[in-house]
Parts: sequence; structure tokens; C-alpha cells
Amino acid sequence: MSNKPNVAPAKGKLGILLPGMGAVATTFIAGVMAVNKGISSPIGSLSQMGRIRVGKRTKVNKPYIKDFIQLQNLKNVAFGGWDIFPDNMYEAAVNAQVLESDLLRKLKTPLSKITPMKAVFDKKYVKKLDGKHIKKGKTKMDLAKAVMSDIRKFKKDNKCERLVMVWCGSTEIYIEEKPVHKTIAAFEKGLEKNDANIPSSMIYAYAAIKMGIPYANGAPNLSCDIPALVQLAKETNTPIAGKDFKTGQTLMKTILGPGLKARALGVEGWFSTNILGNRDGEVLDDPDNFKTKEVSKLGVLEQIFEPKLNPELYADFYHKVRINYYPPRGDAKEGWDNIDIRGWLNYPMQIKIDFLCRDSILAAPIVLDLAIFLDLAKRAGMSGIQEWLSFYLKSPQAPKGVHPQHDIFKQLEKLENTLRHLAGEELITHLGLDYA
Ligand SMILES: NC(=O)c1ccc[n+]([C@@H]2O[C@H](COP(=O)([O-])OP(=O)(O)OC[C@H]3O[C@@H](n4cnc5c(N)ncnc54)[C@H](O)[C@@H]3O)[C@@H](O)[C@H]2O)c1
Repeated sequence: MSNKPNVAPAKGKLGILLPGMGAVATTFIAGVMAVNKGISSPIGSLSQMGRIRVGKRTKVNKPYIKDFIQLQNLKNVAFGGWDIFPDNMYEAAVNAQVLESDLLRKLKTPLSKITPMKAVFDKKYVKKLDGKHIKKGKTKMDLAKAVMSDIRKFKKDNKCERLVMVWCGSTEIYIEEKPVHKTIAAFEKGLEKNDANIPSSMIYAYAAIKMGIPYANGAPNLSCDIPALVQLAKETNTPIAGKDFKTGQTLMKTILGPGLKARALGVEGWFSTNILGNRDGEVLDDPDNFKTKEVSKLGVLEQIFEPKLNPELYADFYHKVRINYYPPRGDAKEGWDNIDIRGWLNYPMQIKIDFLCRDSILAAPIVLDLAIFLDLAKRAGMSGIQEWLSFYLKSPQAPKGVHPQHDIFKQLEKLENTLRHLAGEELITHLGLDYA
């Protein structure tokens, strides 16, 4: 047995705050409500349905994760958030056209009670959207303070013990790290001076982290992935994670890529294209917003294949990603992949994938697990970047100078060993004694 870290109990209610209450957020909230009513099951959520192996293989001990370590009970959560549209969660879920009307009708009363707070929003960062449910403030610091005051009110009104925040807002335009992002002092000055390199998502992230509220970023924009906010997270004992929920095509890449590499198969090219017709697809139809997503999606295979270390297999590797806005499909995205691989004696072969997926159905359990595990991290006194949650993210945040881990199996190992550590159980490393 290793030393058991001190993890505070999951007492009282957890408030889950969501900036951006569109397709993913409503599918997540309605899903938790359906699970709590016993009319559906939380498929895709490791925290609710996954098991973990404990101890040596000579004894079969594989409890559910939620029985292995104390996680927040789903029956005791409250939902809140912000959006640029005032629709309540029933109306927003109907508009999103992800869940069937039959299911939504059963949840109409609780969903209608949740209405978004006024958003911090600037069209400059999300060019395709226009909304009127927006906060006014002279400076970005005033807006951050207004978000903090919303949070305090939400916590009090809903009698929450603890809070977490998960960004489910639209993808913002591509912004690179600038001097204003380097230190807490520069960032706070930038908020006062309305620096153009501070988009809305950073204002929410700042408000949460300043208050010690765990923050995860489900979109590819930088948000909390800047040195100033990482430093602030350390100072305020706040766990953070980002970026970009790992759902459809990239999930497949991080499952298949490590397998091909493990068998020393060469990969010459990987062409990925999507058709997608929801509001996210519309936002990504703008080249500046798409650029943010493209950068997030492209990094994955490069890190898995390591062409510089394995030039015979991957030196000429060509990776292309396209997203096409195609309204008839709504949230039911179709993702095609063509993979050109090379085998024994350099003979070419091809793999084709046609993933008829549902974007928000894949993303909702990730929102849940990030919220539940970030709350666990906070109760365990962990702060800063939570690399063990890379499992859920397309472009995992990593400390400066360290490359992010993209291989889903290594990410899972990290996640499970973190849970074992927090529960005071032996880590599984396959070293040492027989039958490890
Ligand atoms: N669904 C997936 O599979 C998936 C995967 C990875 C990442 N994501 C990301 O998750 C995010 C949400 O996706 P979605 O399908 O729910 O999109 P959506 O367009 O349905 O919802 C986003 C919501 O955010 C709101 N919004 C935009 N800017 C805001 C702001 N500053 N403050 C408050 N609200 C704001 C919009 O009005 C909209 O209602 C997107 O950034 C998307 O790229 C989704």
C-alpha cells in the first residue's frame, strides 16, 4: 500500500457551470437528468460505467470506479451557465436537435427551470454568431468581476458546496500566445486595458480560476492554456484541464494510430474530412475559427508517430483535416478517413473509416467526467494542469517543455494510476513481482 493522500469527502451539492449552453451542454444536462430518473444510462462515461483493476491479477478485483473512489453523486448536482441566447435548457435542447422530442418532453419541467445568465461575448472572436443576451462592461476586468458575482449568486441560490466550470462555448478565432498571456500581472493589466488578445473564454477562465474553481476547456481556443492562467491556478490551488473534447475522428486517430505504430507499420498519409450541420459546424465555417480547430486536430498524429525518431516509417507522413458545414446533417456528423499505410517490404495498403457519429452524444459524457474528476482533483488538493485528464482531450495541455501524450492507452494508464494513487492503492506498472 502506498501512502493514502488526503481526499476531502464529496459532501453536499456540486454546481456545474457551463459557459456556452448549446448542443453539447444541453445534451449533457438532459442526459444527467435522464440517468437520475432511471430512464437512460450514462454510456460513454468512465466515471459512471468504467471499472478499474486493483491489486495483482491473481485476485480478480475490478470494482466500478465510482465505488473505488468517492466521486460526486449525480443525484446531487446543480447546473448553471451563460449563453448569448436567453433560451432555457428545454428550448435550447429542442433547437439543438440532438435528443428525441419524446425524451425531452419527459424532462421539460427541470430543463425549463435552467436559464442561462448573460454572456461575456464579443463577435470579434466568434464571427458567425450574433446574440443579445450579453453583459455590458467598460473593461474586460469589469466583465470578469460580473462573472464572479454571477458565480457567487449561483452558489448561494443553489446551495452548492463546491463548483466546477467546463467551457462548452463556441470555438473562438485562432490566437497565439502573446506577452499579455505570459504573467498574471500582464494578464490583469490586459483585462483593465481591454487587450484584444483576451477573448471571452479567457475572461470566464480567469474568473473561475481566481475563485479557486476547477476549470476545463472543451474547445480548441487557448482559454486557460496560457502561462498566466496556469500560474494563477497554482496560486489559487485550482485544477485545470484543456483543450478540446476528444470525440469523433480524433478519438479514432488516438485509438488506431498507436496500434499501427506499435506494429511498426508505416503511414504515408491520413486524410480526414467531415460533414457537419450543427451550430458548431456553422461557427467552424469561418476560416479564422476553423484554424483554431485545425491546429488542435493536426498535432495528434505527429506526436504519436514521432517522424523524426522513426523516419523510415513516417518521414513523409502527410496529414490533412477538413470540416465542411453541411446543414442537412445537423449534429449527426459523418467523418471519413483514408489512411495510406505501408507494410512488409514497403507494400502499400489502405484503411477507410466511415464514422457516422453524433457529435454531442460523444461529447456529453466527457463533460460529465471532466466535471466529476476535476472536483475529485480539487478535493485531493491537486492544482495546475491535470495531465491525467488528457484522456478526454484532443490537444491536451501540458507543462512548458513537455510534449502532450496523445496515445489513448497511455492516457488511460495515467488516469487509472492517478485514481489508484488517490485511493492509496498500489500503482500498476507491470514491474517487480510475478503476476503483477
Ligand atoms: N460536440 C463535439 O463533438 C465537440 C468536440 C470537441 C469540441 N467541441 C466544442 O465544444 C463547443 C460546444 O459545441 P456545441 O456543439 O455545443 O456548439 P453549439 O454552437 O451548439 O453551442 C455553443 C454555445 O456557446 C454559445 N456561446 C458562444 N460564445 C459564448 C460566450 N462567449 N459566452 C457564452 N456562450 C457562448 C453559443 O451561443 C452556443 O449556444 C464548441 O467549441 C465545439 O467546437 C465539441
